[in-house]
Amino acid sequence: MVAIRPARPEDAEAIRETALASWHAAYDDLLGGETVEALVEEWYALDGLRESIEHPEHVVRVADDVVGFAHIGPNPNEEHVAELLRLYVRPKRWGEGIGSRLLAAVEGELADYDRLTLSVLAENEVGIGFYEKRGFEREGEREVEVGGESYREYRYGKGI
Ligand SMILES: CC(C)(COP(=O)(O)OP(=O)(O)OC[C@H]1O[C@@H](n2cnc3c(N)ncnc32)[C@H](O)[C@@H]1OP(=O)(O)O)[C@@H](O)C(=O)NCCC(=O)NCCS
Repeated sequence: MVAIRPARPEDAEAIRETALASWHAAYDDLLGGETVEALVEEWYALDGLRESIEHPEHVVRVADDVVGFAHIGPNPNEEHVAELLRLYVRPKRWGEGIGSRLLAAVEGELADYDRLTLSVLAENEVGIGFYEKRGFEREGEREVEVGGESYREYRYGKGI
C-alpha cells in the first residue's frame, strides 16, 4: 500500500509532472491537449508550488514517488472552511485507492475547520463520482473561464 507523507519543496517538479499526466487524462477531451499543457504550465509554476508546500496554512500531501498529491488551503470567502484546491493521481494508478487515501490524509489535518469545499468541472465525471461517493454534496454551480472558454463547474462541500 502506498504511504502518504507531507510534500517537500523538492517535490514540486514531480507534482507538476503528475498534474500534467492526470490533466491530460481528465481534460484533453474537454479542453484539448495544447490548452491543458498551457494551463498546467501556468497553474503549476514551481515557485508557487514551493510556496504552497511551505505555507503554514496550506496542507500538501503526496503519495510515494509522487504518484498523487492533494492540496488544501483556507477558503478565502468563508471562515472555518477549507478548500480542496487540488487532488490528482497518475492515470495509470487510478482505482487503487490512492486518491481516497490522499483525501483522508488532508481531511485529518483540518481540526480548525468545520467544512471542506471544492470545485469540479461539470464534465469531469470521474471527479464527480469520486467526490459524491466520499460524502460531498453539490451546493451550487457557476460558469468559469478556463483557457479563454466558458465552462460549467459545480461546487461541492461536506462537514468535517
Ligand atoms: C479523482 C481521482 C483523484 C481519484 O483517484 P484514485 O486514486 O483513482 O481514487 P480511488 O482509487 O481512491 O477511488 C477510485 C474512485 O475514482 C473514480 N474512478 C477512478 N477511476 C475511474 C474511471 N476510470 N472511471 C470512472 N470513475 C473512476 C470512482 O469514483 C472510484 O470509486 P470506486 O473505486 O469506489 O468505484 C483521480 O481519478 C484523478 O486524478 N482524476 C483526475 C483529476 C480529478 O478529477 N481530480 C479531482 C477534480 S479537481
